[in-house]
Amino acid sequence: MGLEGKNLHVLVLTYPTQGHVNPMLQFCKSLSSKGVDTTVAVTKFIFNTFKPKSDGSIQWDTISDGFDEGGFAAATGIEDYLDTMKKAGSKTLRELIMSHQERGHPINAVVYDALMPWALDIAKSFGLVAATFFTMPCSVNLIYYYVDKGLLRLPVPEGSYPVHLPSLPPLMPRDMPSFIYVPDSYPQYLYLLLNQMPNIQGADYILVNSVHEFEPLETDEMSKIGPTLLTIGPTIPTYYIDKANENDKKYELDLFQIEPKEASSTRAWLKTKPKGSVIYVSFGSMAKLNTTQMAELAAGLVESNYYFIWVVRASEEEKLPKGFTPEKGLILRWSSQLEVLSNEAIGSFFTHSGWNSTLESLCLGVPMVAMPQWTDQPTTGKYVADVWKVGVRVKVGEDGIVGKDEIKTCVKAVMEGDRAIEFKQNASKWKQLGLGALRKGGSSSKHIDEFISGLRDKIP
Ligand code: UDX
Repeated sequence: MGLEGKNLHVLVLTYPTQGHVNPMLQFCKSLSSKGVDTTVAVTKFIFNTFKPKSDGSIQWDTISDGFDEGGFAAATGIEDYLDTMKKAGSKTLRELIMSHQERGHPINAVVYDALMPWALDIAKSFGLVAATFFTMPCSVNLIYYYVDKGLLRLPVPEGSYPVHLPSLPPLMPRDMPSFIYVPDSYPQYLYLLLNQMPNIQGADYILVNSVHEFEPLETDEMSKIGPTLLTIGPTIPTYYIDKANENDKKYELDLFQIEPKEASSTRAWLKTKPKGSVIYVSFGSMAKLNTTQMAELAAGLVESNYYFIWVVRASEEEKLPKGFTPEKGLILRWSSQLEVLSNEAIGSFFTHSGWNSTLESLCLGVPMVAMPQWTDQPTTGKYVADVWKVGVRVKVGEDGIVGKDEIKTCVKAVMEGDRAIEFKQNASKWKQLGLGALRKGGSSSKHIDEFISGLRDKIP
């Protein structure tokens, strides 16, 4: 353990969904590995549901979002949830900071999810250093920033596509975050994302779960916003950084871990498959496909005739075709995704292009078929196909469905032939850059050190 962060106590406040808790938790582990006392605050509901155990490196604490019993599902909708979370969260964050002061273990800095901008006022009212943490890539953050600044007006008139924005590739409708392309699809989510921006100047730092080398222009552009911007990604457990492919060894688990028994049966299944022969299919923790889409995907995967692992969450299971028991497929309710992706039997990742999944795939050198669903995913899908060139993006039919033939074409493109070789070579390049960023002297490693030394300088 380094001692660079000795005598510093950082509180990390997470937004209560998996795609947000996971990366912030890994960031906590990086801080703590450098000697910083790190307390991660989750909502009471998340804490009671997952009962995180401390491995000694970080401490857990809670705030309330006002829905301690049922979490988001107990709210009448996103508007109710966000309003209540702001009120209950502000009050309980204040109490949490005070209780650490009273116990003689004061907090020096608050790192808060950019979706909880109200935490800035609380941190500043105690005179603490404040860092806003973006779990999404700079490309997407910039689009929301441009809307907030009036550079991109909503709704974007149809005739203005492709849209040209500073430091971003030309963007077509299907490249836009879904809330931007159809602003009235989820107005409260759009509000939540735009609301990351108005008080951003008041923060001391902007931290982004990205890698400078993955989006250099975008990062430099976002750095112009004001506060020191530091990319600190990929937030992948260090086990995978140094030991990718040694799957028999113990691996670091996250908060949403699966039973070791299930992980080991998946490992055993993969062990019998040739190198690069399996497609891993997952749509993350939130996306929902309709029954027709599930049927097309099931048929496309089976007819592609490759081995596949398909994660179908319990809430999605009933949408599978009746009696679906594919000969070459393994259906899981949840996987140990990093372990699966780092297994050499995996040849490609059929993904919804969630930012964490994409970072994980890039950093483990796995080519992708991008099938974005909503929020930031379309923009990330665009980068996968056209900027990083590590795979293809599906074409959606006029009926809104990605048909089985399109699925077969895309799978084939990443699994066999010249393009597949090129995608794999590109993926290996990004893997080296991504993992290199976290090694000593790499961009993100230096940024984490810079953050810690900056805290030391700012704290009286
Ligand atoms: C959401 C949004 O969809 C995403 O676009 C945004 O950037 C963050 O919030 P989610 O849909 O869950 O997240 O996708 P993603 O960002 O990919 O995060 C999923 C996480 O769950 C990944 O870290 C992945 O490794 C993990 N996971 C997923 C598992 O561990 N097992 C699984 O079976 C599926």
